[in-house]
Amino acid sequence: MLPTESCVLVTGAAGFVGVNVVKYLAQRKRRVLALDFVRNDLLVADYLKGLDDYVEWVEVDLTDSTRVLSLASRYKLEGIIHAAIFTGVTNDAERVKPKEILTTNLMGTINTLELARVANVRRYVYVSSGGVYGTASDLNEPVDEDSIQCGCPSDRSMTSMPCFLRALALSGRLTVAEGVRPRTLSAR
Ligand SMILES: NC(=O)c1ccc[n+]([C@@H]2O[C@H](COP(=O)([O-])OP(=O)(O)OC[C@H]3O[C@@H](n4cnc5c(N)ncnc54)[C@H](O)[C@@H]3O)[C@@H](O)[C@H]2O)c1
Repeated sequence: MLPTESCVLVTGAAGFVGVNVVKYLAQRKRRVLALDFVRNDLLVADYLKGLDDYVEWVEVDLTDSTRVLSLASRYKLEGIIHAAIFTGVTNDAERVKPKEILTTNLMGTINTLELARVANVRRYVYVSSGGVYGTASDLNEPVDEDSIQCGCPSDRSMTSMPCFLRALALSGRLTVAEGVRPRTLSAR
């Protein structure tokens, strides 16, 4: 892909959602920068057969912020679709790898958002989950972003903390107390 050609970055491109997004875009002749930290295997290659002209692969670990940000100078990114999330985990995997799960899902997302900012990307799509927004009883009824109340980044990061605390506590070796609020002190 030429550095002057606009492309859409798809993260988690070797995963279930990512590879289908890559295929959808490439079939419509959109150039795709397909990112994953695993080499695209034979199954993926076969699934995307005939679309090589539109797809370029990069092997990058999204937790490596330097490598992620380097994409800004190497490619002309017009959009990012972020589907590289540590998913499909069993309770056992949650117990063994809580740090890896949180690092990928938090820092991977933050690094791609920072890439979007630095590269002046016009549109960023975060592939979320029914586990976050809930599922509508009518499957034809869209669940929109307002289902989650968003404050400023610092508020937001704090309201997210109980979830992370619980996720880490799943390792079974940690007792976590939540919801402790110090009494407001009056200034004298
Ligand atoms: N699969 C479904 O049916 C489904 C349904 C609803 C929502 N989702 C959401 O879609 C998103 C993706 O799910 P999926 O099923 O495609 O998962 P997946 O596990 O099939 O794909 C995730 C991909 O991300 C890659 N990845 C993980 N960590 C990475 C890192 N640090 N750097 C680079 N690449 C990394 C993995 O190698 C993998 O190829 C998730 O947010 C999930 O909640 C999936």
